[in-house]
Amino acid sequence: MIKLSDWETNMGVDFLKKVGIKKGYNILDFGCNDGNYTIPAAIITRENGSVFAIDENEHSLRKIADKAEVLELNNIKTINSNGDLSFDFTDNFFDFIMLYDVLHYLNSQQRNILYKEIYRILQIEGILSIYPKHTIGNFPLMELRNVSVQELIDEIENYGFEFKGKIFGELSHDNYLEEGYILNFSKM
Ligand SMILES: C[S@@+](CC[C@H](N)C(=O)[O-])C[C@H]1O[C@@H](n2cnc3c(N)ncnc32)[C@H](O)[C@@H]1O
Repeated sequence: MIKLSDWETNMGVDFLKKVGIKKGYNILDFGCNDGNYTIPAAIITRENGSVFAIDENEHSLRKIADKAEVLELNNIKTINSNGDLSFDFTDNFFDFIMLYDVLHYLNSQQRNILYKEIYRILQIEGILSIYPKHTIGNFPLMELRNVSVQELIDEIENYGFEFKGKIFGELSHDNYLEEGYILNFSKM
């Protein structure tokens, strides 16, 4: 039995509109897990746009496909990347790319590869949107345990993105809600 949360169908929709997602956008959700952000993004962009949801966990991708069926959303494409950090998308394809609560899985060399690939597939002035978790002072974990949010911002700006600001709100994290913020960057 598929359960959809109020976050996925209501609160997340309002929040992602605030973050900048609009109807008709092509969106990449890298490290989508069970789709806590994929589903509200797909509701906003509707049939004129698509959400490409990438993960290396097949079970999570199947859950997203089931949720999409329940909601009759035909604009989500799930992709098992098997951990690869280069993708089969044409240059400048996306309007909006989400890296939400995922960068702590990647070491600095892997993040370097990912930022370059994102720069290639995001259109000029498109938005790269980051949910920075597990940095210094925020349950430090894995590859970001010794990295501050400011260092992460500086790191991303080195790849041709301009930091635009923080968007604060109540966010979904591991299926509960907590106060936090998103970092938005624009491709220069
Ligand atoms: C903590 S979850 C975050 C899920 C979602 N973005 C959110 O904020 O609710 C991180 C997800 O990233 C995925 N992941 C980590 N490294 C990955 C890689 N190299 N390629 C694809 N997915 C990856 C994991 O399988 C996991 O589902």
